[in-house]
Amino acid sequence: MTVAPAPRSPRVSCTEMTELVLPQHSNVLGGAFGGTILAWMDICGAIAAQRHCGTVAVTAAMDDVQFRAPIRVGDVVVLSARVNAAFRSSLEVEVQVQVEERASGHRRRCVDAFMTFVSVDAAGAPAAVPGLLAETADDERRVREAQARRDHRLASR
Ligand SMILES: CC(C)(COP(=O)(O)OP(=O)(O)OC[C@H]1O[C@@H](n2cnc3c(N)ncnc32)[C@H](O)[C@@H]1OP(=O)(O)O)[C@@H](O)C(=O)NCCC(=O)NCCS
Repeated sequence: MTVAPAPRSPRVSCTEMTELVLPQHSNVLGGAFGGTILAWMDICGAIAAQRHCGTVAVTAAMDDVQFRAPIRVGDVVVLSARVNAAFRSSLEVEVQVQVEERASGHRRRCVDAFMTFVSVDAAGAPAAVPGLLAETADDERRVREAQARRDHRLASR
């Protein structure tokens, strides 16, 4: 594996995406189809991962997916992704989905997940990722918690 580039702040790779839930995104009850939401989460998380790595990053795992509140047709959905921790060739990205109320702009948390992406080189082999520069106490807490989740994730593979 090649030597990783210099560490990067999680703020460099933070990603936000906004989508409008249309009829073609609905389930039989008129809510958003979960698979569509997961696809949007995958894209948002992958963009954050690739901004951090500077390479293509493939999805290796998606865990702790929680659908906390329904999302309806017509809702404006805001997805946000941030890198919690970088390991050797993989990184953990936290993705959150909120619904934004039109009148107030208030955002309601609806779905969240922890995703693992692996940086790959041109041949598709895992490539070293830049470390994560933890600049705040919150950054450090996220790294510790991500490490614990990684240990659990890899042990249960
Ligand atoms: C992810 C993938 C590149 C890993 O390749 P591999 O040959 O298994 O590589 P390794 O065993 O050396 O693991 C590479 C890294 O991936 C991590 N990894 C592999 N499988 C994982 C899993 N299920 N969950 C979390 N991390 C995983 C390893 O922990 C390692 O991380 P590290 O370098 O930071 O320690 C490979 O399994 C793959 O291509 N999977 C399909 C990815 C894909 O197509 N995604 C699109 C959605 S279907």
